[in-house]
Amino acid sequence: MLSSRLRKTPAAMCQERMPVAQEPMPSAPVRYRPAPAQPGDETLWVEQVALPSLAEAVATPFYCYSSAALRQAYDSLSRALAPVDAQICFAVKANSNLSVLRMLAQCGAGADVVSGGELSRALRAGIAAERIVFSGVGKTRDELAQAISCGIAHINVESPAELETISRLSTALGRPARILLRVNPGIDAQTHAKITTGTAESKFGIPEAMIPALYARAQSLPGIRLQGLAMHIGSQILAAAPFRQAFGRLAQLVRALRMDGLAVSRLDLGGGLGMDYGSDTPPDVAGYAAAIADCLTGLDCRLTVEPGRVLVARAGLLLTRVVALKPAPQGCFVIVDAAMNDFMRVALYDAEHRILPVRRRPGAAVAPCHIAGPVCESSDVFARNRPLPPLQPGDLLAICDVGAYGAVLASTYNARPLVPELLVDGGRYAVVRQRQSLEQALSYEPLAPWL
Ligand code: LLP
Repeated sequence: MLSSRLRKTPAAMCQERMPVAQEPMPSAPVRYRPAPAQPGDETLWVEQVALPSLAEAVATPFYCYSSAALRQAYDSLSRALAPVDAQICFAVKANSNLSVLRMLAQCGAGADVVSGGELSRALRAGIAAERIVFSGVGKTRDELAQAISCGIAHINVESPAELETISRLSTALGRPARILLRVNPGIDAQTHAKITTGTAESKFGIPEAMIPALYARAQSLPGIRLQGLAMHIGSQILAAAPFRQAFGRLAQLVRALRMDGLAVSRLDLGGGLGMDYGSDTPPDVAGYAAAIADCLTGLDCRLTVEPGRVLVARAGLLLTRVVALKPAPQGCFVIVDAAMNDFMRVALYDAEHRILPVRRRPGAAVAPCHIAGPVCESSDVFARNRPLPPLQPGDLLAICDVGAYGAVLASTYNARPLVPELLVDGGRYAVVRQRQSLEQALSYEPLAPWL
């Protein structure tokens, strides 16, 4: 005979767990408001748009970005950096949606790109070529030619071989290429190993010891307009110390090059400023700006920064619907319609993102559950033991702070089409990337003619 526990419905079993006190709080552009139709309940809104109405209009899962949050993040960074007069070139890899890029361009941002595709997107979004910088460890000849031809601000050179290629290409094209040399300073950014780029064993940049000789060589090469140095030591950096160490090292290098009679007029400091995914605490833009000011004031160099995450992460959420509840020996799985292919950060970096119920009753008991997607991989779990109110199939959940490295990292694994992206601005919204149709995907796959 079945035990009484096993005869219970999944919903009942998932609800009977011990209540826990702490429920996650929503992040800035996302607010709970009373739901008049259900007195006592509250609903999650992005600016002036209620998420249940968006989910009615556009099937889940989808990304939803807040224009107000984008503007707020840009303004706060740009105000902090005003005293050091640094040009903000948004790292397009964090979010390459054309509407997001257009909005940031309207705020005053340039772009940091790492491929011909990103360069084309930035230009298409209306970012002027002279506000675009090109980083990346494996730029192809075609990509370099594209960048030189359209006259971008500068190419950050990653190796001696790339320097020679750029010289030949720019000479052939009859257009000089402005360049910086990207230094690898051998500094540990104290962040996740998979997003550390400034240590000696990483593939990025040119070892510091090689810089003086290469700098002198670059100055003598035809087609090259050498302007200075670039550096990017990693991402999601929360401590000030690695930045201070890196910027201090750059300053020393500038002085050493100048002592050798070499001209340095521009420094690109990369991106990397991290943020707290567990709370609404804003990123430490003031500490970051102070590190720049303390280390680089007085050098008389024009400065560029390449922030990605801090400008867009908070602005995005991934809306998903509960498909099924599945009791497990340890806890309960809440299976949702979004999966690791739509949002990779948890599977890739063990990242933790807040997950909010779209409808809630303040003060209601919450119980820990595991939020998982339908993809056939054990790593397709968005959270374990998360305190959430009782959930039913059909309920909506918002995965928070996914505006950076969210949609851009998606794949079509398990033949799941890429999900839409929506932009909210006040009380209006637009679908700024449509759901990929299966027909579209299949049309790119002609059968081999002999089959
Ligand atoms: N500049 C360069 C040369 C970069 O490689 C990167 C990021 C940035 C700027 C922007 O860094 P941010 O300000 O966003 O930290 N997918 C990972 C992050 C990879 C970062 C790669 N490079 C994640 O989801 O955490």
